[in-house]
This record gives sequence, structure tokens and C-alpha cells, in this order.
Amino acid sequence: MKAVLCHQYGPPESLTVEETASPKPGPGQLVIAVKACGVNFPDTLLIQGKYQFKPPFPFSPGGEVAGIVSDVGEGVTNLKPGDRVFALTGSGGFAEKTLAVSHKTFRMPDGMDFTTAASLMYTYGTSYYALKDRAGLQAGETLLVLGAAGGVGLAAVELGRTLGTTVIAAASTDEKLELCRQAGASQTIKYSHEDLRERIRAMTGGQGVDVVYDPVGGPYTEAALRSVGWRGRYLVVGFAAGQIPAIPLNLPLLKGCSVVGVFWGAFAEKQPADNLKNVRELLAFYQQGQIRPHIQATYSLDEVPRALRLMMDRQVMGKFVVTP
Ligand SMILES: NC(=O)c1ccc[n+]([C@@H]2O[C@H](COP(=O)([O-])OP(=O)(O)OC[C@H]3O[C@@H](n4cnc5c(N)ncnc54)[C@H](OP(=O)(O)O)[C@@H]3O)[C@@H](O)[C@H]2O)c1
Repeated sequence: MKAVLCHQYGPPESLTVEETASPKPGPGQLVIAVKACGVNFPDTLLIQGKYQFKPPFPFSPGGEVAGIVSDVGEGVTNLKPGDRVFALTGSGGFAEKTLAVSHKTFRMPDGMDFTTAASLMYTYGTSYYALKDRAGLQAGETLLVLGAAGGVGLAAVELGRTLGTTVIAAASTDEKLELCRQAGASQTIKYSHEDLRERIRAMTGGQGVDVVYDPVGGPYTEAALRSVGWRGRYLVVGFAAGQIPAIPLNLPLLKGCSVVGVFWGAFAEKQPADNLKNVRELLAFYQQGQIRPHIQATYSLDEVPRALRLMMDRQVMGKFVVTP
């Protein structure tokens, strides 16, 4: 089969596309013929050796796939060859076939296409877990989303709207902010040009926001934390800007607010039943028309380096998907 391979850590351009042996399923595993694989920021970190987990070389990046089960290992009883599924694989997805474990593989609902199914788990899974389970977001509250036109950011905007909150979207360009308005943001801030703190103070009458969703880090974090209202929650989701910010700890004290870590991959691993419940709730939102992944572009396996490069250059709005 054809696969994108990483033989050593490096930039996207160091990836190769090669013929390699098809995977064989071990106990509890299944093989999926990949029809679509979502591109996520962690893929850019994985190939550079900057991510939390490090698969042995050579490996394919690509952490969430949708496709057709082609083989099942011992002990897999809930799925069979021919089933249309989507799965969280962590890596291995930028290939014609990949391995998945049965507890992180879900049957696709009728009527859903592979590209959509490969765009739900990482972004909506992360953002739903963050907003619902970690922040306890309530209808009527105000939610500020940084990097709001990116993968997890845009999912947070849609879910914030779905959960009945007022969403303020912050992003770097007018085009990105227009997409955020279409996804449900009622107010927007171009944080590359506008003072984030001043704008939030004006928008909230000095009260601040109830919840901040921060997948960006870097210089925006402190301004956003200073914009949290009394008993607010600050969600630490990621550091796409590349810099892990240090924060003055007097700020959570003065605001009586919580700084809350979000690690969805660990949640899916340690609390599979709770994750399954969230996946089902997300599928219900999809079927009710509340959430719709925005697919900006699809790429072939040969074009994976280009897709990852564009992501590292802040050029993706919503999702890129690879269709082997
Ligand atoms: N904690 C978890 O469980 C979890 C799960 C999934 C992802 N994540 C993390 O969340 C972050 C975002 O992931 P994603 O898939 O949404 O990525 P993405 O689609 O690339 O979005 C990231 C956004 O960050 C902003 N950004 C600011 N500076 C940037 C820079 N130097 N390079 C790239 N983007 C920059 C960009 O928005 P503007 O141009 O508008 O600023 C971009 O849209 C990543 O750090 C990822 O590792 C965490």
C-alpha cells in the first residue's frame, strides 16, 4: 500500500510517499481502508518530534481517519469487514490502510460522507470536552475563542453557539473572522491589529468573559486572561503560536477564576465511556444540523507536505482533509 512516511524528525518537506507493507491487526485491533484523514496541528508537531507521544520510525502521521473496515483482529466483536467507520488513530492515517483500536473506532451514521467523518473527532471532540466537561459552559454565558477560524477554534465557535452562549471570535484576518461569523460568532476581534483587552472590556461593559478557549498561547494569553470575569474559566488547549506562555498567578486569585487544562487525547484514553457519550452527542448535533465541519480543501497523499506546510503557515480555515 501507499503511505506517507516520516523516517526522521524534520519539516513537512522531509516526508516521503512510499510503497510499504499493509498492516495486520493484533488482538483488539482492526485495519481500516482509509478514505479520508483529517489534518490536525498535532501532525505538524509529530513529524518534528515536538508532540507528547513519539511513534517509532518510520511512521505515518495522520491521527483521525474515516474509511471501511478491511480486517479485524482477535476479540473485536462490535465491528466487521465492510463497516463504514471513523477512528482516532493518533498516527498512521496518511496511508491507504491503517490500524485502529476498537474502543476508539465508531460506526459512521447513514448519510455522512467520509470527508466529514474524518473531520469530527479531533476538533469537535476536543472543543466539546473543553467547553462541556472542563469549563461547565452554561447557556447565556460569554465565550471568547482565540484562533477562532482554526480547526479546534471554529469547532468551539459552533459548539458555543449550539450551547446557547454569546461567542466572541478572535482571529488574525478579516476573511477568518467572516468565517467565524458564519459559524455563529456574534462579535469578532482582529487581534493582529486590535487591542484584545480593550475590545473585550468594551464588548462586555467591563465585566469580562465567562470562558476563554485558548489553542494559541503566545502573546495573546495574558491579555485574554486579564479579560476573564469573576469566577470565569480559562481553558488551556494548545500553543499554536509556538510559545508556552508564563502567567502571573495573582490574576486567577484576583478574578476568582480557574485555569483549566484540556488534554482530550488522554481523556479519550482514560475515560472511553465518557468520550463515547460525547461522540454520540456530537453526532446528534450533526444530525440536527447544529454543527458542520468547514472543509477548506482536500489533498492527495503526495500533497501531504504542502497541506502541513500551509497549516504551519496559519493558512488553514477549518479543516484540511487528505483523501488517499
Ligand atoms: N489540548 C488538546 O487536547 C488538543 C487537541 C487538539 C489540538 N490541540 C492544540 O490546539 C492547537 C490548535 O490546533 P488546530 O488543529 O486548531 O490548529 P490550526 O487549525 O492550525 O489553528 C491554529 C490557529 O492558531 C493561530 N495561530 C497563531 N499563531 C500561529 C502560528 N505561529 N502558527 C500556526 N497557527 C497560529 C491561527 O489563527 P490566527 O491566524 O487567527 O491567529 C490558527 O488558525 C494546537 O496547538 C494543537 O496542538 C490541543
